[in-house]
Amino acid sequence: MSTVTFEAPRGMRDFYPEDMVWRNRIFDAWRAAAERAGFRNYDACVVESLELLQRKSGEEVSEQIYAFEDKSGRKLALRPEMTPTLARMVAARQTRLPFPIKWYTIAQCFRYERMTRGRKREHYQLNMDIIGSEEVLCEAEILGAAVAAMRAMGLGDEAWRIHVSSRALLGELLAKSGIPEAQHPAVFIALDKRGKISDEEIAALLRVEGLDDAAVAKTFELLSVTTLDEAAALAGADSPAIANLRDLFALAEQMGYGPLLTFDIAVIRGLSYYTGIVFEAFDVQRKFRAIFGGGRYDSLLALVGGQPTPAVGMGFGDVVVGEVLREALGETCPVTRHGYAIGYMAAEQRGAAVALAARLRAEGHAVDLALLPQKPKHFFSKAGASAAKFAVFLGPDDLAAGTAQAKDLETREITPLPL
Ligand code: HAM
Repeated sequence: MSTVTFEAPRGMRDFYPEDMVWRNRIFDAWRAAAERAGFRNYDACVVESLELLQRKSGEEVSEQIYAFEDKSGRKLALRPEMTPTLARMVAARQTRLPFPIKWYTIAQCFRYERMTRGRKREHYQLNMDIIGSEEVLCEAEILGAAVAAMRAMGLGDEAWRIHVSSRALLGELLAKSGIPEAQHPAVFIALDKRGKISDEEIAALLRVEGLDDAAVAKTFELLSVTTLDEAAALAGADSPAIANLRDLFALAEQMGYGPLLTFDIAVIRGLSYYTGIVFEAFDVQRKFRAIFGGGRYDSLLALVGGQPTPAVGMGFGDVVVGEVLREALGETCPVTRHGYAIGYMAAEQRGAAVALAARLRAEGHAVDLALLPQKPKHFFSKAGASAAKFAVFLGPDDLAAGTAQAKDLETREITPLPL
């Protein structure tokens, strides 16, 4: 028999119990925030048809797809993101759904990426999307829920920022610079590579798209705009994109996360389907890649064959936020102690221990019952290292007295517990 490596395939993760503590901290915060904001849960199979996922070449994600053929020759793939699947599901029931709909899911996604810090070949993503409304309150609600999730995980507002821009704004500015609309999608994708490849390489990409030297220079000039007021001065008083952005900033203030938002014209997003406001969240030191990202994509439903329907959403990955959390909270995930650990000295006390465990479990407590008799020292040291709040160790004296001692592992306080 050949030897098998104990490692998971490159870029894939195993989750041991100590890893699951972190993962659950993230997933619990995601789920609670999405539910509290009124999003309904949905799910889909991780395998999707390749045709749906593969869009225009040049988009990074479509080059990273794990694709395969099934035994009947169907071209399939592991989804790299959830949005095309969501668009397909919504298009399939377009006449029956009560728009606008607010849906969320926690989806495992696969991308054959070059591995860097915060990038794996598999990750989980919280997706929250609102489909069927053009109101900028949708963007504000989605960002508000993401903020609530970050706070629930234990990350302070000082640690991170949401960078916001708008493809519609950039489109207006590019048009004013004389760059025709047909070239905008390619310009967005090229500009999104900023920081990943050199400006010379980006300029070369723009020239391939047909921009002359003057247009390339103008495009780079637009990226030096630093404030919304500056952008407004360029776009003109009647710019719908500016009005939209100002509305979002005002709503964020009203919702209590205004200080987290910052205008950043360099946020463009790598996926081609975005049409309006786009956003990405980063740690303030910019040590990590984007914590989450998303935006408005009003054309995707029509692109997959549905009726034209406005939509906005975000993807929030577990990998980057996991790293940010470890940095902020320490390597060991802080856990809230709960439930009981029960041990016993000899076989004679096993029955009483089992009965006590059954009773406490019936009352709704978590109980970790020892499988064998133990020395008290061993029991208490293991209980101390566990997540239990109380430790109960049964010896002959407890049975004789008809009362056990529950030791609070945080306060060391002892409470009697009738047997
Ligand atoms: P995305 O920016 O490609 O957007 O991914 C969203 C988030 O998923 C990223 O900010 C990051 O946290 C995480 N992520 C992506 N790729 C990886 C990776 N290889 N390893 C670890 N984490 C990763 C989308 O996927 C859009 N579909 C989001 C969306 C939903 N837009 C509208 N609705």
